Amino acid sequence: QAIRFDYSHARAFVQSDEWEKLAKPIFQAHEMLHKRTGPGSNYLGWIDWPVQYDRAEYTRIKRIAARIQADSDVLLIIGIGGSCLGAKAALDFLNHSFYNLLPASKRSTPEIHFVGNNISPVYLAHLMEVLEGKRVSINVISKSGTTLEPAIAFRLFRDWLEKRLGREEARKRIYVTTDKARGALRKLAECEGYETFVIPEDIGGRFSVLTPVGLLPIAVSGVDIDALLQGAADARMNYLVPDIEENPCYQYAGIRNILYGKGKQVEVVVNYEPRFRSFAEWWKQLFGESEGKDGKGLFPASAEFSADLHSLGQYIQDGVRLLFETVISVKRPAIDVRIQPEGEEVDGLHFLSGKTMNDVNQKAFAGTMLAHVDGGVPNLVVEIPEATAYYLGGLFYFFQKACGISGYLLGINPFDQPGVEAYKANMLALLGKPGYELQKAELEVRLRG
Ligand code: PA5
Repeated sequence: QAIRFDYSHARAFVQSDEWEKLAKPIFQAHEMLHKRTGPGSNYLGWIDWPVQYDRAEYTRIKRIAARIQADSDVLLIIGIGGSCLGAKAALDFLNHSFYNLLPASKRSTPEIHFVGNNISPVYLAHLMEVLEGKRVSINVISKSGTTLEPAIAFRLFRDWLEKRLGREEARKRIYVTTDKARGALRKLAECEGYETFVIPEDIGGRFSVLTPVGLLPIAVSGVDIDALLQGAADARMNYLVPDIEENPCYQYAGIRNILYGKGKQVEVVVNYEPRFRSFAEWWKQLFGESEGKDGKGLFPASAEFSADLHSLGQYIQDGVRLLFETVISVKRPAIDVRIQPEGEEVDGLHFLSGKTMNDVNQKAFAGTMLAHVDGGVPNLVVEIPEATAYYLGGLFYFFQKACGISGYLLGINPFDQPGVEAYKANMLALLGKPGYELQKAELEVRLRG
């Protein structure tokens, strides 16, 4: 069973000739991707990665994950953007909803916390309180090795660990995932003798979840990374045909571009399971950073139903008609709960007797979809049979490939992120980094108003 893509609830918004006209550009985008002739072609290592990863390093990931499981109460992941969102997506999607809160009798793997993905002193100080008295290991992840947020967090937590354990012991608990040769983090790791893992040069951050970037933290949580990679490897085969009629991944890429061309400027990825929340964050980064450039691109947003039906739902049903939705749905939830009748019918809910929570959730989904379609919001559905590592690997691959194809259809380079540099340069200038003196003076004049 593969991932199912259903666009029947968007067909009414698309003319058949628009659909037919897609065949050629889709084929061209496929050729650009696979023949590596399009923009950003130095960053296409993710296409074959699920079958061409470094086997020796993979074995080492499993060995180190087992060591961290045995000697740590907490794994601290330091990274931002593509260097943390994939791992967080997988951990939340596949593990217990309250993973970190489970008592030791129910969880034999370490707590996992994230830091370095914001610059909040409050978050940092609170996290340090949570870590007190626990055996902590650190996995710092940064491809460039120079990103300020994780670099600051690593400096502080390295110091924190060294003060508690001494430099020698701390060294044994620090794992670095970075570029093979370049960057400050690589230099530091070599100087200190930290255990390191490589982020392949030809794979950008947001396409790196299936490399050591995601695999080490995911393996530490006890998830079956063989199944995750197998799911991605099978998806690689499933989404290889250049024909839009036969390739659901290309259908998704194509239809979102048609809708964009018709004034739908926002794609809302929707889920009915809170454990999908972080997956939506990963998806938003993948599409936002890949497509939002040259004045173009769908704005990727997310909503969690039914909670957001009581907030954003009003806008989606009735506000400016600039949205379409992509629902990510799981056919069979891991657990279901039956609603039993309780004595007299005082709550008016006997019509639900014998149904399960999933029955209700599925009807909420179906009813919402039809209501939103009636309100002018096309709905796309990506369905997986179960929330397992295998299907998650497939989903990661499905969206990564769709993103590459979609970016080429849009006429942009999906594999760079020039827009991210503007805030960084201003921040560094304002902080007084040597070399930015002129910019600092100009910015300060502007801030004074
Ligand atoms: O997708 C990307 O390339 C970015 O989101 C990066 O992952 C993010 O900026 C972090 O970069 P780095 O891993 O170099 O610290």
